[in-house]
Parts: sequence; structure tokens; C-alpha cells
Amino acid sequence: MPSEPLFCQRFNICGGDFVNAGKASITIKGILREIGIHPPVIRRLAIASYEAEMNVVLYAHKGSMELRVTPADIRIRVVDEGGGIPDVDLAMQEGYSTASDEIREMGFGAGMGLPNIKKNADVFTIHSVVGKGTTLEITIRL
Ligand SMILES: Nc1ncnc2c1ncn2[C@@H]1O[C@H](COP(=O)(O)OP(=O)(O)OP(=O)(O)O)[C@@H](O)[C@H]1O
Ligand SMILES: [Mg+2]
Repeated sequence: MPSEPLFCQRFNICGGDFVNAGKASITIKGILREIGIHPPVIRRLAIASYEAEMNVVLYAHKGSMELRVTPADIRIRVVDEGGGIPDVDLAMQEGYSTASDEIREMGFGAGMGLPNIKKNADVFTIHSVVGKGTTLEITIRL
């Protein structure tokens, strides 16, 4: 059995919804502050969760982000239904992006999201099935 969760909450993310884009990450940041998580840890999770959330908004139909805080670690699991990533190793490279001109005009598409998630996580896993969707798990140890 894993250690008992202290806190667990799930957020829905809608693909293409730029009005609500980023709100789940902001809410998560507030929760982590409220429960007294060390600010440098909050900063790392805020970056990782925002990048993961935006990727769902930009590249998937819909998804969810689950925050789970235990005495041992903080884990964010992002599951989406969408086109998936054909070559995950390539997508993980800095500067690689399939963002359209329209997306780039909105300020996204530097190809830095996934590398930044990895950099900010203690443990990062990504699994993607083309035509189905993508699952990320971001863990920071406490
Ligand atoms: N959830 C996802 N579903 C489908 N494709 C994705 C998903 N997340 C990332 N990708 C693919 O991986 C590429 C790289 O993602 P990454 O977040 O690193 O960069 P980006 O989103 O293109 O730009 P940035 O994050 O810097 O704004 C994306 O351009 C996209 O092709
Ligand atoms: Mg991105």
C-alpha cells in the first residue's frame, strides 16, 4: 500500500479552451501554498503543471489533472484524450514543436514545455498512444 494521501483533487481540462487555460495550475499552486508546501517546491510544480495543462489545451480534446499530496511526495498526473505523440523522444527535445502559426502567435510553441516539466520533476514519466492520448506523471519528493 502506498502511504495515505493527505490531499487529492482532480481538475478537468478542455482542449481549445483558452478562457480557462491555466486555471487548474493556478488552483493547484494556491492549494500547495495553503497546506504549507515549501515555496521552491511550489515553484517547480507550478511550472510543470502549467506546461502540462497548456499542452492538453493546445494539443488534446480533453483531459484531467490530478493532484495528490502525501507525506512522501507530491504527484501530478495528467491524462488526456487526443491525438497522442508519435515520437516521444523527439517531443522531449528542446525546441521541438508542432505548434501551428496560430498557436505561435499566442506565444506558445517554443518546444520547451516537456523539457521544462522533466527538469522540474524528480520523477517524470510520459506515455502516449497515437490516436488515443497522452499520460504524464510528475513527482516531486518531499
Ligand atoms: N498532450 C499532448 N498531446 C499531443 N501532443 C503533445 C502533447 N504534449 C506535447 N505534444 C507534442 O509535443 C510537442 C512538444 O511539446 P512541448 O510542450 O515541449 O512544446 P510546445 O508545446 O510545442 O511549445 P511550448 O511548450 O514551449 O509552448 C508539441 O509541439 C506537440 O507536438
Ligand atoms: Mg507545451
